[in-house]
Parts: sequence; C-alpha cells; structure tokens
Amino acid sequence: MSAAVRIVFCAPGVRPEPWIRELADRLPDAEIFAWSNDQQRAADYAVVWTPPDGFFATQTKLKALFNLGAGVDGLMQVASLTPELPVIRLEDAGMASLMAEYVCQAAIRHARELDAVEADTRTGLWKPRKPTDRADYPVGVMGLGTLGARVAKALSLFDFPVSGWARSAKALAGILCYAGPNELDEFLRSTRILVCVLPLTLDTENILNRENLNKLLPNAYLINVARGGHLVDDDLLVLLDTGRMAGATLDVFREEPLPASHRFWRHPNIVLTPHCSALTQRDKTLAQIAQKIEALERGEPVAGVVQRERGY
Ligand code: GLV
Repeated sequence: MSAAVRIVFCAPGVRPEPWIRELADRLPDAEIFAWSNDQQRAADYAVVWTPPDGFFATQTKLKALFNLGAGVDGLMQVASLTPELPVIRLEDAGMASLMAEYVCQAAIRHARELDAVEADTRTGLWKPRKPTDRADYPVGVMGLGTLGARVAKALSLFDFPVSGWARSAKALAGILCYAGPNELDEFLRSTRILVCVLPLTLDTENILNRENLNKLLPNAYLINVARGGHLVDDDLLVLLDTGRMAGATLDVFREEPLPASHRFWRHPNIVLTPHCSALTQRDKTLAQIAQKIEALERGEPVAGVVQRERGY
C-alpha cells in the first residue's frame, strides 16, 4: 500500500489511542491520526462513530467512511455528510454471534419460564416446571441482514419455528421468509416472540407500534436489539399493562442511557440491558476495516456500502 494513505479516527467519547495503535499494526504504511476540530489534516479514509457536524467541514478529501457499527442511523443524521461519500458499515465483525446468543437467551428464558422459576427459588420454593412446547413459541425476526439472518438461524437450531420479515425477498434455509409491507400482517399474525433487528430508517421508525404489536399472537413477547426508535414506548406499556402482551427484553432505547424516570426500569415484565447485546469488538472491527481499505486501494469493490436512498 502507498505510504500516502491517511486515515482519520473520530468517535467522540471513545479513547482513540488503542484504535489508532491497533489499526497501525494492521496497516503499517498508513498515516493514522485522531480528528480534532483545530487540526485540518485531510485524510483519505475516516473511521467514525457519531462524528460531530464539523467533522465533514474539515475532511473534504475522503474517499470512503467506515462506520464503527452495523447501524448507520446516527451517522445519517449528520447534516454535513455529503450524499456522494461512500459509507461502509460493519458487517458482522463478531457482532452476529453475540446478538444471536443474546436473542436466544431472551427467547429461551421466556419460553422456559425461567423468570418465574427464579422467582420461585428466591423464595425457597422447589417447583420444577414442565417443559413448554417450542411449537407454541413461533418466533418472527424482523430484519434479515447479516445480523438478523444469524439470529434466525440460531433460533431455529433451538427448534423454535422461525419466520423472518425483510424489506426485500430473502431465502434462508429453514426460515419462512416474508417481504415488504404487503406481507407484514401475515408475518405478525403468525408470530408470538417478535425480534427486531431492523435498521432504523424513515420506513422502520415506530414500526413496533400498538397497531402492529396487536397483530401478534396472544401472550406475545418482544425482543428489541435494533434501535429504540423502532418502538413506541407507551404502546408497549399499554399492551403489557392490559395483558395483551406477556413481556419484553429491551437492549435499546430512544434515549440512552435510559432516563432514571422511565417506566421501563421498573416494569415487572420488562428485562432491560444497556445496549450491549452486540458491542463493537475492536480487533475484529479493525481487521475488517483494514482489509477493506487495502481492497479499495487496489481498486476492488467492498461489501457493506450503505445504499443512501434506502438508509442502510
Ligand atoms: C450498534 O448499535 C451498532 O450499530 O453496531
């Protein structure tokens, strides 16, 4: 690779040193530096997570931008991001198996009534429960990209009947796939455990609303590992409080950290975690980015380029 390749790192709230050091280990000929407002060195590539608006005013020579996450919704909000700049999101990079195990544990915990078992044993009660029938817990996975497909496959390995829904038609072995707005109702009506792994776009914002959640099978359960903006919080609370839905495991929220006053914190049927179902892993992430920078420098195409018109 030519020594001239320059890479800027910008992820407010993240200590840049280990990222820069490890990327330099992988691309020894590159010049890699942390972004700062008063430093105007132009780079060829940027590695970013939620950069400030001012970032793009100083970085006008970029050939491509790497997002330090699978979801680019935050980046798409940055007004100064030009439509021409290729944006490349993370693909798997270790996140798919983490997300699959998180979703499986939540689905299994619910289907095996482990919350109730644990509540029993905490009070000294020895009360084994009969196994439930997996056929009674059809799971529907919304979003069948790299992460969603892995989640769906993992669930099916535990014998859950699994269907999936995506914007466009997909074919996944053992998964009944629905596509597009016209097939959403049918998908929801056959789902008891709903898993959201969708990208957040104008089309999917608020998709987990009362109308849609009401179409799920009785005693439905929601697992949201995508973005808080998919879920209408008050609609979920109404459906839980009226017994229409059984519960939810939520890893993502409209406002993060979740404000202390939010009802989700105290709801007995909600399990919540602090956006950690699949955290970005530095080593695998940088290996992927370095390999893609090398490919781009050789003039080769790379996967994971965001299609701006669809928003992911
Ligand atoms: C995390 O939320 C990601 O988008 O990778």
